[in-house]
Order: sequence, then structure tokens, then C-alpha cells
Amino acid sequence: MAITTRQLIQWKQKGRPIVALTAYDYTIAQLLDNAGVDLILVGDSLGMVTLGYETTLPVTLEEMIHHAKAVRRAVKQALIVVDLPFLTYQESAQQAIHSAGRILKETGAQAVKLENGNEAIAQTVNKLTSVGIPVMGHIGLTPQSVHQFGGYRQQGKTPDASARILAEALALEAAGTFALILEHIEANLAKEITEKVSIPTIGIGAGAYCDGQILVINDVLGISDWRPPFAKPYANLRETITQAVKEYSLEVKERKFPQIPSP
Ligand code: KIV
Repeated sequence: MAITTRQLIQWKQKGRPIVALTAYDYTIAQLLDNAGVDLILVGDSLGMVTLGYETTLPVTLEEMIHHAKAVRRAVKQALIVVDLPFLTYQESAQQAIHSAGRILKETGAQAVKLENGNEAIAQTVNKLTSVGIPVMGHIGLTPQSVHQFGGYRQQGKTPDASARILAEALALEAAGTFALILEHIEANLAKEITEKVSIPTIGIGAGAYCDGQILVINDVLGISDWRPPFAKPYANLRETITQAVKEYSLEVKERKFPQIPSP
């Protein structure tokens, strides 16, 4: 049976950790789904790891829809969540409904994610959920605000900043989000948020006390040329791919592949 947003909330109540990863294409999404990943995020990190942008800011709604459709075609079980890219939801609730509506209608994904938990965003989440669009929140290090933060640095380091992040978590829960991504915040702040909200928290660089964990698939597979220190690689596909391509290249040059059929 396909995993639902309700299921994630029940797993929090039972203490069953949620396994989440990003995916941006058909083949990887199929592998993740077959391996039993609970939640697949078509993250706007696709801009950096797949499209080669320097930040997530240039990613368009069309690009998200294009990749989310490929993921949707592969996935049978996992819950699919798609990022709303920068400036496709911040202008007004109408803009957010239009963008999120397109994602749900055109891709078949079950939910959207947006960044930040300030008052305006919480009101937007409220509007989205009131028209039946499931929303996942994302607080802490929100990459769409990278220029405001002055880099990809840990958030919530002062008492004021951590109080603000906790307030954002509570506001997003009240507005109707079904889960929260907590990115690059101190483990004890993540723990406090996890204990205070009834919806699941899914951490990335936020320590061990969240209800689930998410990582960027390219980091997990070791394909990226750079990864954040908190991302643990479980393979070194960069090396495996390079070796395979070198071997292929050599065999083609030496006319060993394809083999010349014996007369
Ligand atoms: O875009 C993304 O991949 C994300 C994860 C880092 C949570 O938002």
C-alpha cells in the first residue's frame, strides 16, 4: 500500500523512524522505492546536484514538474513530496495555491514542501491546507535564503535564533503541515522541537533525536564533488563510475569492445 501523510504521523506516535531521501529521475526513484524508502523528496537541490546551478534559487516550477513526473512514473510505495522553488509561493497565497496545484495536478505527487516558518508563510500554509494540499515545512537552514544567511551555515545558534526556529515549528504545525524538515540546527534544538510538535520531524544535519532522517541521494551514493560534513556517504559511486568509464574507453580504443566475431 502506498504510504500516506497520515501514516507518517502514526509512525511518529509509535516511535518508528521515517526514512527519506531525495530523487530527481526515474531510475534512482525506482531503486529507492524498491529498497523501501518511505518518503521521496523531489528537492530543489536538483538545481545544484543535477542541473549544475550554484544555488537552488534559479530552479523553476517547470523544472520541478519535469523531474517530479519522472519520479512519479517510477514510484509505487513511497510518499512523493515536491519542493516549491524560490519565488513560486512567497508572493501571495494565491501564487502558492497556483504553483502547488500545478505540481499536484501535473505530476501526481502527494504533497509539496516550502521553506521558512514566518507569519506570512504560516498563513500561506493555512490557505494551502484549507484547499486540500498537503504541505511539509522546512526550517533551520533554508537554502532558498542562503544569501540572507551569508552561506550554508548552521542556524539557531543564539537563544533568540533558536527560540525563533521553535516558534516557526509551532506556527507551521498550527497551520496544518503534516511534517517538518529540520535542516542544520543543533541536535538539542531539534530534540526540543520534536518533543513539542505532534507531527514528525525529519532531520538533515540536525542530530539523532528527530522522528526521521533525510539526505540528498547524490551525497549518500558518493557521486557529488562536494557534500556537507553531516552527510554520510554509503558508497563511492564517483570512483566506481570513473573506473567503469575509463575501462570502457580503453576497450573501445583498443578495439576490445565490441568483440570482433570470430570468422
Ligand atoms: O532540496 C532538498 O534536497 C531539500 C533537502 C535538503 C531537505 O530540501
